[in-house]
Amino acid sequence: MLRIGVLASGRGSNFQAIIDEIEAGRITAKIEILIVDNPNAYAIERAKKHGIPHLFINPKDFETKEKFYERIRDELLSREVELVVLAGFMRIVRKPLLEAYPNRIMNIHPALLPSFPGLHGQRQAIDYGVKISGCTVHFVDEGVDTGPIIIQAAVPVHPDDTEERLSERILKLEHKIFPEAIRLFAEGRLKVEGRKVKIENYRLPEIQFTNPETR
Ligand code: GRF
Repeated sequence: MLRIGVLASGRGSNFQAIIDEIEAGRITAKIEILIVDNPNAYAIERAKKHGIPHLFINPKDFETKEKFYERIRDELLSREVELVVLAGFMRIVRKPLLEAYPNRIMNIHPALLPSFPGLHGQRQAIDYGVKISGCTVHFVDEGVDTGPIIIQAAVPVHPDDTEERLSERILKLEHKIFPEAIRLFAEGRLKVEGRKVKIENYRLPEIQFTNPETR
């Protein structure tokens, strides 16, 4: 049983998608703790509803960002967490946590990396004028959305799209590929070689492409 720790800052819809897949028995894992950096994060309500322990760690309580991440690291290690999942955690992870969990921290980004890293990936895609965007699950390294890519999924960008509509279309796929990546990790099927992630016995899933007609 894979022991997971989730870090979130807000709504937590990806957190919910992961909870649902675990509860449905499709991922053999247990979420040991939800850690939030924002006491108003809706993710907390989701944790309560599903009997998952949660903890608010206030970044303002720490002199440095490194100390904040040491606190998070110690909490995760004390609960014997093996995989750290960033589910809408709006911060750049620093060394203390990275070093404790090399290739064991996963993030979801709402664009097809390496395009449009950082904040507002959906708006960046619209402003740039791309015709296809999507989402990426990747391992976290010291850069901003630069770590080895695990799964991506694509959606069309329509000429009249607003940031909200594109975000909604992408989010539906986020909720599929994030749990999928965690499932593959839990099954021991992800092998990181340099910046490439090899997936053992994997067939290209249909979810990687949506019907271009879908709006
Ligand atoms: C998602 O768009 C995700 O790609 C990004 O932050 C957002 C989190 O949404 N990293 P939620 O909190 O999971 O609903």
